[in-house]
Amino acid sequence: MEFKTSKIISLPKILDSRGNLSFFESSNQIPFDIKRIYWIYDVPGGKIRGGHAFKHSHEFIVALSGSFDVILNDGKKEIKFSLNRSYQGLYVPNMLWRRLDNFSTNSLVLIASSISYNDADYIRDYEEFKAIINEKSK
Ligand code: TYD
Repeated sequence: MEFKTSKIISLPKILDSRGNLSFFESSNQIPFDIKRIYWIYDVPGGKIRGGHAFKHSHEFIVALSGSFDVILNDGKKEIKFSLNRSYQGLYVPNMLWRRLDNFSTNSLVLIASSISYNDADYIRDYEEFKAIINEKSK
């Protein structure tokens, strides 16, 4: 399933009687150089994270534990990806409005970003996001 160029990427899975191991590397499994890793945890039931777009940065989102939904919106339509496997991740390019919800208990979200934290890369207002999209498509 694909939306804009967002896509689920399957990661290597090294099966072992001692337990499984998965990994990803910059510009190998994922299509950008990783500058930052952050994670989201202890999300209270019913809470929503995200609710913004990034002007330039790309992200790769993995459900290391538990499950949650990532809803992507390109200014016209929405698509929902349900993440619940620690050997798969969702590539999210820039200029997609995204929110994360429906978190299970003990879910752990790992996010790799293509840039160091920069508040100026955020678009936090949906109307502003749509205006930029419309401007680009002219
Ligand atoms: P934010 O990106 O708004 O969280 P979410 O998208 O999950 O709702 O970030 C929440 C706060 O954390 C905000 O004050 C910025 C800060 N923050 C950092 O300092 N560094 C980071 O790498 C991230 C992702 C957030």
